[in-house]
Amino acid sequence: MNIIIFGATGRTGKELLQRALDEGHTVTAFVRNPSKLGISDSKLKVAQGEVTRYTDVDHVLKKEKFDAVFSALGAKSMFKRDLVLIDALKNIIQAMENNEAGKLIHVSFIGTHREAGKLGFLYKYVIPNVMTNLLRDHLDKDNLVTSSKLNWILVQPPVLTMDRYNGKYVHEAEIHPDKSRKLKLSRANLADFMLKHVNDSTYDRKAVLVTE
Ligand SMILES: NC(=O)c1ccc[n+]([C@@H]2O[C@H](COP(=O)([O-])OP(=O)(O)OC[C@H]3O[C@@H](n4cnc5c(N)ncnc54)[C@H](OP(=O)(O)O)[C@@H]3O)[C@@H](O)[C@H]2O)c1
Repeated sequence: MNIIIFGATGRTGKELLQRALDEGHTVTAFVRNPSKLGISDSKLKVAQGEVTRYTDVDHVLKKEKFDAVFSALGAKSMFKRDLVLIDALKNIIQAMENNEAGKLIHVSFIGTHREAGKLGFLYKYVIPNVMTNLLRDHLDKDNLVTSSKLNWILVQPPVLTMDRYNGKYVHEAEIHPDKSRKLKLSRANLADFMLKHVNDSTYDRKAVLVTE
């Protein structure tokens, strides 16, 4: 597969990058600072640019066709709004629409699921009241994705960890209260899910909870 990752220097981005390369895929890392990547590989291409500058994003998506665009950009603070990342996602979506790129697989947050309250006290009361700004940003980004003309998957993970890959994770479009799940997920398992769903249409144009 040929994949591009926005947010490739982040913790999820790096897991995606390494896993995709290990599986033999060709990967473009779109980054503002290539020295933060710390990975070199014959199948890795580095595109330096500002995701907030439309022409930079358009340029890389015009140059070649990608099977999937992974969006794993993340805000610096859990408590402040980061509107720049909303503009960044607008650029990615617009450039994908203009260049007929493949599937957008966007990392969102489990707290945006319409039935997140079913997950217990943390998701019913604490996150909506304490992490209001983060939640608003994620909801705005979710709306951009779901109202686009693209093929997309909105991945809604809980707390992300740096645990090793073990393949033991569950995914579901609806929250079944009696289902057994842990409200955490390793970024390595998340990367595995995202890569497996580039050519799997189960969750196309759907939001999906991924947990351990
Ligand atoms: N942390 C959690 O427990 C958790 C749980 C659920 C969902 N999520 C979501 O998962 C996603 C990925 O999270 P993460 O923790 O893996 O991210 P992270 O390690 O904080 O990485 C963030 C990435 O976004 C890039 N970025 C941030 N601001 C930017 C800007 N203004 N311009 C260009 N690039 C920018 C960073 O680039 P630089 O390296 O250049 O700064 C980096 O590549 C986020 O949307 C997050 O909200 C996180």
